[in-house]
Amino acid sequence: MTITAVKLNRAAGLGAGLVIACLVIAGLVIAYLANAAYAAIADGARARIPDTPLVERGRYLAVAGDCVSCHTRPNGLPFSGGRALNTPFGVIYSANITPDAGTGIGNWSEAQFARALREGIGADGKHLYPAFPYTAYTKLTDSDVSALYAYVRSLRPVRYTPPQNAMPFPFGIRSLMAAWNMMFFDEGRFVPDTTRSAEWNRGAYLIQGLGHCGSCHSPRNALGGESTASALTGGAYLDDIADEVVEEKVTPMDERTVRSWSSPNLTPARNGLGAWSSEQIVAYLKTGHNERAGAFGPMIEVIANSTSRLSDPDLRAIAFYLKSLAPQTKVESADRFDARLKAGAAVYTARCGDCHQPTGLGTPVAHGSASKSAPPLAGNAVLQAPNPATLINVILYGAHGGGLAAESNGTWPWPKMSGFELSVGLDDEQIAALCTYVRSSWGNQAGSVSAADVAQQH
Ligand code: HEC
Ligand code: HEC
Ligand code: HEC
Repeated sequence: MTITAVKLNRAAGLGAGLVIACLVIAGLVIAYLANAAYAAIADGARARIPDTPLVERGRYLAVAGDCVSCHTRPNGLPFSGGRALNTPFGVIYSANITPDAGTGIGNWSEAQFARALREGIGADGKHLYPAFPYTAYTKLTDSDVSALYAYVRSLRPVRYTPPQNAMPFPFGIRSLMAAWNMMFFDEGRFVPDTTRSAEWNRGAYLIQGLGHCGSCHSPRNALGGESTASALTGGAYLDDIADEVVEEKVTPMDERTVRSWSSPNLTPARNGLGAWSSEQIVAYLKTGHNERAGAFGPMIEVIANSTSRLSDPDLRAIAFYLKSLAPQTKVESADRFDARLKAGAAVYTARCGDCHQPTGLGTPVAHGSASKSAPPLAGNAVLQAPNPATLINVILYGAHGGGLAAESNGTWPWPKMSGFELSVGLDDEQIAALCTYVRSSWGNQAGSVSAADVAQQH
């Protein structure tokens, strides 16, 4: 073998080595990107260490608790915080809960983590705001807190400091929360009801604890305390509306104004989920739609990041628990002589009846072509919510299921409903009349709506 041949061979060997190295690196990059893409979609976690069963369990619990929705800002890395949460008391930014030592919770012990989740007190002893639903997470068992801690520790640390809260005086004073907690916070773990089945107890634990459904679906008093007596009978939530449906096309809003959304009554009352079967509750939470309703607005994120990823037995337990609640309702009806009823009926016939039908029974989705399909308005919970904000939002801006239509679970997703603000130009009086009419027709029983209520949603 000549020297050149050796050199060539070496070069070839080196070349092959380089090619292999490149392939390996490319493979790693692809694996990383794939993992990162999965992570961004699923839960943003790139485990630094192989997942232990405890971490796996924590990942599932974090899904059930929907930590990622609040702890991720638009275009930000998952769990690194900085999402603005709008409350009547100002804007509160979520914390960075990745294990970064400087800006996240990298230095927190499990005991400190448990105290934050269950008592609303941070590692430095400062009070946390109940925009973070520790009022619900207080129910978590020790072993679930341990698993969540293990999962959060397994995340990739992200260096990021969320913005300062923007809260007018006196709400910016954290120590005031000590008094708030005394008035409105019942600290304590979930106590299983031994007279009930394991399924009921699992559903109760998920709804009252991790799922924190009451933080949006329970009424709150003027100071933001959740009512336990009227738990899950309907509440309100502030969120920006990112887009609207114009001529069946989803169109970004010019400005992302924060608006009120009402959350319906989840008890099996006539103005709540009384008309829903357990299967329909499961289908809605799994896919975002069923024969009676479609998700839109703030519930989309809850379904996408949390309930659609729960196991079937857990979803069945949630439905079982909701169906077991005492139906609670405050029956309200518009005065039978209210002039808005007649005016509203005329608007309904002209604008809504084609799809939702004069009977309010809707038009089931015709598989495939569905231009006139629409869910029933008779017995509809969103429409009869104590606060009419969501009904008004649907009429003004339309409704669409976001990206939720992938799995159909035997039923078909609803098509988009266009808003009526731009395309038809209904004025506030007409919309108020229409809302009053649909809230008191076909057996529906909910209060009347004024033009001022409508004006607030513009
Ligand atoms: C509804 C929104 C929301 C959800 C859901 C939520 N958080 Fe938070 N979280 C917040 C906000 C807002 C803060 C900051 C509170 C403050 O500054 O007083 C926070 C703070 C925290 C803190 C304290 C961090 C610090 O530096 O003080 C921890 C720990 C935490 N969250 C963990 C979790 C975990 C784990 C989950 C899921 C089981 C979760 N959060 C779900 C909104 C939320
Ligand atoms: C961030 C606030 C928020 C949280 C948390 C939340 N919801 Fe909702 N939910 C809403 C709003 C707003 C609506 C009405 C708009 C819509 O239908 O999407 C709604 C609608 C619903 C509906 C549909 C009612 C209908 O007639 O269309 C069901 C069922 C429901 N939520 C169940 C739950 C359950 C169960 C949980 C807890 C696992 C939960 N929600 C947590 C805000 C929330
Ligand atoms: C072109 C057919 C069509 C017309 C016209 C129409 N809708 Fe709808 N509506 C729908 C569809 C489809 C949905 C379901 C959208 C989704 O969930 O993504 C819907 C949803 C709703 C909902 C929410 C129901 C729920 O719980 O999911 C309400 C309330 C509603 N419409 C009221 C009205 C009113 C009031 C009018 C008249 C101003 C009207 N609609 C006109 C098709 C229509």
